Amino acid sequence: MIPPVLPTYNRAPLHFVKGEGSWLIEEDGRRFLDMGAGIAVNALGHSHPDLVAALTEQGQKLWHLSNLYEIPQQEELARRLVEATFADTVFFTNSGTESMELAVKMARKYWYESGKPEKVEIIAFDGAFHGRSSAAIAAVNTEKMVKGFGPLLPGFKQAKWGDWEALSALITDETAAVIIEPVQGEGGIRPLEPAEMKALRALCDEKGCLLILDEVQCGVGRTGKLFAHQWSSITPDIMMVAKGIGGGFPLGAVLATEEAAKGMVAGTHGSTYGGNPLGCAIGNAVIRKVADAGFLEEVARKGSLLRQKLEGLVAGNPEVFEAVRGQGLMVGLKCKLPCGELVQAAYGKELITVPAADNVVRLLPPLTISDEEIGEAVDRLDRAAKAALETTKAG
Ligand SMILES: Cc1ncc(COP(=O)(O)O)c(C=O)c1O
Repeated sequence: MIPPVLPTYNRAPLHFVKGEGSWLIEEDGRRFLDMGAGIAVNALGHSHPDLVAALTEQGQKLWHLSNLYEIPQQEELARRLVEATFADTVFFTNSGTESMELAVKMARKYWYESGKPEKVEIIAFDGAFHGRSSAAIAAVNTEKMVKGFGPLLPGFKQAKWGDWEALSALITDETAAVIIEPVQGEGGIRPLEPAEMKALRALCDEKGCLLILDEVQCGVGRTGKLFAHQWSSITPDIMMVAKGIGGGFPLGAVLATEEAAKGMVAGTHGSTYGGNPLGCAIGNAVIRKVADAGFLEEVARKGSLLRQKLEGLVAGNPEVFEAVRGQGLMVGLKCKLPCGELVQAAYGKELITVPAADNVVRLLPPLTISDEEIGEAVDRLDRAAKAALETTKAG
């Protein structure tokens, strides 16, 4: 019999009842070190006092207001994002998928308003993930994502990750935009080098198409910059944000230049919940903290510490791990054993990690994680790796 909750997830039998900083507490009292942070969502950890204060203060005043009215909390958050980035304007959503939908619409509308309505095609990359909507699955077009969900939306093509020559050949007069994650998340933590970002920007300029960056997973401080593309000197035309920006509250955003956003006039897009006072009060509390230069330097420093310890872990467990990759606190461990077995073994050591494609275990801890917790996480991973290897050998 189908359960009351639609069974689209294979869930671990864990019942967390409380979160404290980098820790999740199971109902039986066990304390799990959370190196997943709700898949890069709990940027400030669980129950951060600033976020609890923002939630309760705003919650006592006004939760929701339609976008038919002015919303000061939304204006403040948009101003903060504009000041800290390439963007001139921001639209607030509730998720990464909704940010994807608007990014696609905005790019197409831009060319329509520019007198080139034939430019509708969006090029995405293998290994990418942009959400689960009809447009987002058509963009990626892997069998796993699209099987049974046809007919697929037209207007999307896929390029090979890292093959800029092949990409160049794919871009035609009908290409509206190229969309890419500066660090692929679900694809197995694959970062673009700054030189590759520059080459990509130059190619889009040369060919006359927009560049959309999906920073849903790698943005909001995760790599040690507020946004990952800021490690290079390039800027996109449109950028998708979600996950960390709400610190656990469903909030997303699309940032754009004035030029790229020129088609999005009154009536062309909307959202009932997007940018409501409660969500934006929390978003402001997150950005106030994360956009601070000192905070970001700490993320970068802790990222280096984690990296260094993980290199040691890989060297010490050559039958289990192959390599470490990623940037800041967005790290992947390329595995030799099936990554799912390591995630399971880590549960046994009271450690939360997240599997990804390409046989990678992802580590996406709260950005507030301490040095001691980083040491503890690598220690637990070491014990999990040894346990997983023993099970494999015994089996
Ligand atoms: C890079 C990227 N884009 C888009 C999405 C979709 O976001 P959401 O699940 O909030 O709709 C995700 C989610 O994992 C993501 O990692």
